[in-house]
Amino acid sequence: MNFAKYSMKEINKQFWSKQSITNSSMLGGYDQINNVDIQQSELFLLKNIQQFNTLLELGSGIGRISEQLFIKYFKEIHLVEREAKFLNESRRRLSKFNCLYYQMSVEEFEPKTNYDCVWIQWISMYLTDSDFCNMLQKFNKSPIILKENISSQDYQYDEEDASITRSERIYENLIKKSGFKIMDEQFQQGLPNDIYKIKFYLLKHQEL
Ligand SMILES: C[S@@+](CC[C@H](N)C(=O)[O-])C[C@H]1O[C@@H](n2cnc3c(N)ncnc32)[C@H](O)[C@@H]1O
Repeated sequence: MNFAKYSMKEINKQFWSKQSITNSSMLGGYDQINNVDIQQSELFLLKNIQQFNTLLELGSGIGRISEQLFIKYFKEIHLVEREAKFLNESRRRLSKFNCLYYQMSVEEFEPKTNYDCVWIQWISMYLTDSDFCNMLQKFNKSPIILKENISSQDYQYDEEDASITRSERIYENLIKKSGFKIMDEQFQQGLPNDIYKIKFYLLKHQEL
């Protein structure tokens, strides 16, 4: 679908520049889902990832997931986040751990290495279809865990933060178009009824 790419990015940047530096803003105000989010992410991670040396988190916000989950397992964590104030907060939270920080957009980030896991949570909704496919294609040698909101309509656009919530059908088409296959998939359980469904996908490049 054709979204007005530049105004969308501008609206999205403005939105995040005004958000507070809290777990709550990372969770869209639904603080009560933090624990179930982390618990099921842990199960999905341990079920699907075999090596625990390096992890890359894209759109890492304030380091909410790294702090509560990734530091328990990975020796080295790389975080990509566009908003400086969020990245600084993750530097503070993760100061005792072996982390590398990239203050830039996911679209600009070019990996210099392969990772044991690339974690992509609640960031795909801020990308156009083509930016989403370009992002996946940068990681054709690394297993990817994608965790994202899922809508019943193919595309649902939210004017407040310029986010696009996609259906399973759309995500699955984009994943295939990018040259990846779905190795495992699962819905997040334990969510309130008034929010989108959330789905995990384990992706590997077709040639891996
Ligand atoms: C909903 S929060 C999720 C943060 C984190 N994944 C979590 O679950 O706690 C989305 C984050 O993505 C960042 N973001 C949005 N668009 C981005 C982009 N194009 N490149 C990098 N970061 C982006 C925002 O600044 C914000 O920190």
